[in-house]
Amino acid sequence: MFAQPAVALPLPEYSFNAHISSPAAVQLRPRLETTQTPTFSTRAATVQDAPAIAELGSTVFSTTYGFSIPTPDLNAYLDEAYSISAIVKNITSPSIHVVVACSDSDNRIIGFAQLTEGTTEACIEDLESIVELQRLYVHVDYHGAGVGRTLSKEIEKIARDRGYRTMWLGVWEGNFRAQRVYEAMEYSRVGEREFKMGQCIQTGWIMCKDL
Ligand SMILES: CC(C)(COP(=O)(O)OP(=O)(O)OC[C@H]1O[C@@H](n2cnc3c(N)ncnc32)[C@H](O)[C@@H]1OP(=O)(O)O)[C@@H](O)C(=O)NCCC(=O)NCCS
Repeated sequence: MFAQPAVALPLPEYSFNAHISSPAAVQLRPRLETTQTPTFSTRAATVQDAPAIAELGSTVFSTTYGFSIPTPDLNAYLDEAYSISAIVKNITSPSIHVVVACSDSDNRIIGFAQLTEGTTEACIEDLESIVELQRLYVHVDYHGAGVGRTLSKEIEKIARDRGYRTMWLGVWEGNFRAQRVYEAMEYSRVGEREFKMGQCIQTGWIMCKDL
């Protein structure tokens, strides 16, 4: 009898990414419990805001999704989407409109949202006059304080003023909190899409709202 040759099991292509211990730690974080609601104001983003938006976007994105994406893919996506130069490109693009929320106490940017014209997905390509709420990100210390709702209202106003009738967005299938928030803002799920970050492909919901 010959000994069976050892079979080399294929190694996983990526190491597990453990930025956060468990999805539940992020997704089920409770709403802000505070006796004092923070006050803030919103305005159109300027190029000078790019470093603060890049920093906030990278941090909130990593906190929200870091556990679900292999590290090389996360880093590739952050470089592509949240470098200062990428944010400057967005702010100066004629088809992109970025709104920031600033804390009244120290003028710090605590959230931002982005309206992007000219994008669509297969499941909504029959809809006319649609525009995308592409980003809605709020500093974790301010979650549940109304910043997201205020930013999304500003974005909806810009969209209506530009003649759009339907807002659409994509949200990761595992981002339960954002799904509940969007439902509270009257978005409904209409389909799904695949979303690529580096080599990593995730499934997302497509949600729509009449403007
Ligand atoms: C999703 C996100 C933008 C929401 O912003 P926010 O400032 O926390 O939301 P708001 O406080 O304005 O709440 C908006 C609505 O959602 C509801 N809501 C807020 N947190 C909720 C929660 N944990 N569960 C259920 N509903 C919730 C609010 O009650 C509110 O509805 P109302 O005005 O009818 O009361 C914010 O949590 C965030 O930045 N998350 C991480 C990044 C992310 O996931 N972005 C979305 C990418 S697709």
